[in-house]
Amino acid sequence: VQSEALRRTLEGVHVAISAGGTREPLDPVRFIGNRSSGKQGYALARVAAQRGARVTLVAGNTADLTTPAGVDLVRVGSAVELREAMHKVAADADVVVMAAAVADFRPLSLTGHKIKKTSADPDPIALTKNPDILVELVSARREGQVIVGFAAETGDETTSVLDYGRAKLHRKGCDLLVVNAVGDGKAFEQEDNAGWLLTREGAETPIPHGPKTQVASVVWDAVTARLTESQ
Ligand code: CTP
Ligand code: CA
Repeated sequence: VQSEALRRTLEGVHVAISAGGTREPLDPVRFIGNRSSGKQGYALARVAAQRGARVTLVAGNTADLTTPAGVDLVRVGSAVELREAMHKVAADADVVVMAAAVADFRPLSLTGHKIKKTSADPDPIALTKNPDILVELVSARREGQVIVGFAAETGDETTSVLDYGRAKLHRKGCDLLVVNAVGDGKAFEQEDNAGWLLTREGAETPIPHGPKTQVASVVWDAVTARLTESQ
């Protein structure tokens, strides 16, 4: 978009963005994964690069997406690999955005060979918790660094999407949280996205339904405002 190219508001800013889903290996050929396409993370990377940022994109499994022009791509598989890559990149970044869909659990043990079927019933898969990368990045935060999280939520009988989002923002300790309502064909694998942008100070901005680049623009506008304030 031409208007984006004219807003070089992230010139001289290094941003680290995670995108896509992690794959948690069971054996050399199998994994537990999720349906994240990586599109929102790639849209964030594209818009940031258009605005003049230096962009490092740490990507797990994604749909067949083209790396945006001028973006450094780091490929990862599991959550543990994503964690290591993000810590490395974040140590040098002014802004960190966790748009990746990180598996909450991974198989407790990784079998070095392909698991064979036998006549016996299979063993259940024992799982263990993955580290919360966003929480770790918040505790390792550099002076003035802006940290953004994403949350895909469905509401239920007792709690709305927005209430879950508010609670998550406080739990994670990030500066901004993008909350998307999911379910009913919303968000996952879609071109469009909508939701709210929450700030740690309690501001809540609805993000209109639109392309993921539009969501990205809203996020970068808010990030730029915070970077300017802290200068
Ligand atoms: N996230 C992370 N590390 C994890 C899990 C999540 O860094 N192990 C990040 C995601 O990239 C996202 C934010 O945390 O930016 C929220 O992810 P979400 O899955 O919504 O939060 P959880 O704390 O895992 O809570 P839930 O039980 O709702 O899945
Ligand atoms: Ca989760």
